[in-house]
Amino acid sequence: MKRIVILASGSGSNAENIITYFRENQQVEVAAVLTNKRTAQVLERCDKLKTPAFYFNKSAFVNSGAVVQLIKSLNPDLIVLAGFLWKIPSKIIYAFPNKIINIHPALLPKYGGKGMYGAHVHEAVKKNKESETGITIHYVNENYDEGAIIHQAKTLIAPTDDACDIAQKVHQLEYEHFPKVIEKLLL
Ligand code: GAR
Repeated sequence: MKRIVILASGSGSNAENIITYFRENQQVEVAAVLTNKRTAQVLERCDKLKTPAFYFNKSAFVNSGAVVQLIKSLNPDLIVLAGFLWKIPSKIIYAFPNKIINIHPALLPKYGGKGMYGAHVHEAVKKNKESETGITIHYVNENYDEGAIIHQAKTLIAPTDDACDIAQKVHQLEYEHFPKVIEKLLL
């Protein structure tokens, strides 16, 4: 059985989608979800889905090595960032080479980097009157949104779309593509 560990900071709709997608799969399972936010909605989703979930603080993530130990104990084949907003420290990147992937809600290299997450991305895309946007699934390295690209998918933006409409279109792409890309990487 291949094992996934998901890191999420917020709503966790992608985490839920991935958990549900692999629920009936005999070869892949979501071992656990880790979050850096005690009040994140993803914790409620995990509760409902009976998926193990763990909270960690900044010091456990950056200084003590506790998160590396926790992830190692979960023995993952892939670590999936699904709306996870902290930068990954190099000690975690080196502990799991080529095993950490992220989803970004835009067509990188555009609209990436520090501060470019969630609604900020869609607002910037709208402000620039882009006619298309999309998703990028990529490996994680030490710089925000700069690791090797694994997969991209696009969607058109109508002139009447506001940032919320754009966010919805991007989320649909995420739900459709992310689990399949994970499956392909693992099997
Ligand atoms: C997703 O759209 C994801 O691409 C984005 O946060 C959202 C999380 O939604 N990630 C980033 O912006 C990372 N830079 P969710 O919590 O409902 O899955």
